[in-house]
Amino acid sequence: MQDRGEFKLVTYRKKRLLCVRNSHNAHVPLPDDNDNDSGNTSCEALFGKLLEAETELRNSSFGDDIFHSLKDSLSALNIDGISEILCYGLGSFSCRRSSKYQLALLLSLKNHYGSRVHIYDPVFTPKEIQLLERFDFNVIKINEEGKRIIEDNVTLVYMPHCSVHLTNNFLYANWSKILTKCILLTNSFSAIEDHSKFRNYMLMPIDYILRIRPYVTEIALKNNFTYEEVFHDLNIHIFLERDIVTVPRDFWSEREEPSYGDATIDYFTAKQTEPVDVKNRPNEDET
Ligand SMILES: C[S@@+](CC[C@H](N)C(=O)[O-])C[C@H]1O[C@@H](n2cnc3c(N)ncnc32)[C@H](O)[C@@H]1O
Repeated sequence: MQDRGEFKLVTYRKKRLLCVRNSHNAHVPLPDDNDNDSGNTSCEALFGKLLEAETELRNSSFGDDIFHSLKDSLSALNIDGISEILCYGLGSFSCRRSSKYQLALLLSLKNHYGSRVHIYDPVFTPKEIQLLERFDFNVIKINEEGKRIIEDNVTLVYMPHCSVHLTNNFLYANWSKILTKCILLTNSFSAIEDHSKFRNYMLMPIDYILRIRPYVTEIALKNNFTYEEVFHDLNIHIFLERDIVTVPRDFWSEREEPSYGDATIDYFTAKQTEPVDVKNRPNEDET
């Protein structure tokens, strides 16, 4: 889409494999009582840094390109805005550069489209949650394991470098024509599919990604941001009506809850995050 006006077919790139392979969250620590929220950075200082990062992102050619690609995606879908953004797996933006600039993009998107933002990552610290709320984000208070069912609104699903299983779970939860209302800004499906060919299926059961793949239009983003690691391997995925109407009979009705058996699940389960979620949930009614 950087060529403006034409969807670019995505081909295999070696780097992408690394990203999928590296997304094992088992190594990401959950915040605990001793978490000091990235040293002594005050909330105010962090707020200022995020605003600076947002300006930097917005003025970058990557920022320019992604807004053009989204504009083209929306016009291909025949829709004129993004009312909701759902974000999983942003990471700890007070200490990680990638997460900080990924949040900068989220802020830019929210400002541009006037969208409501729903966000969850179990690694968010209380200070980070406070900041996200200051940006008027709805911080989801329970671990949905990626299975939020979207309403009948155009939703951008932003999962930067997230577990393939979480993406698979999201597709399962919304396994219907409602996907034509979704724009997925996630790791490249074509790279995931290529990668899965080299893996034992039992170790990488991602049926929903593999089943929907022939009906997805993937729009390649040029990875030209100042810091190469921040947006690498992220592409836009849309589900065009003309493709979705060609799915075989029973395509949507064959829908079993994903079960990952012996595979390494590279996301935190609800059970694992329950202690942090409870701590971050001041009021049960707020989710
Ligand atoms: C590979 S890291 C990516 C972090 C950051 N977006 C980046 O690109 O560096 C995956 C992220 O997914 C988050 N995660 C794990 N389980 C999750 C869940 N159930 N729901 C939402 N996010 C989850 C992890 O805490 C981690 O921040």
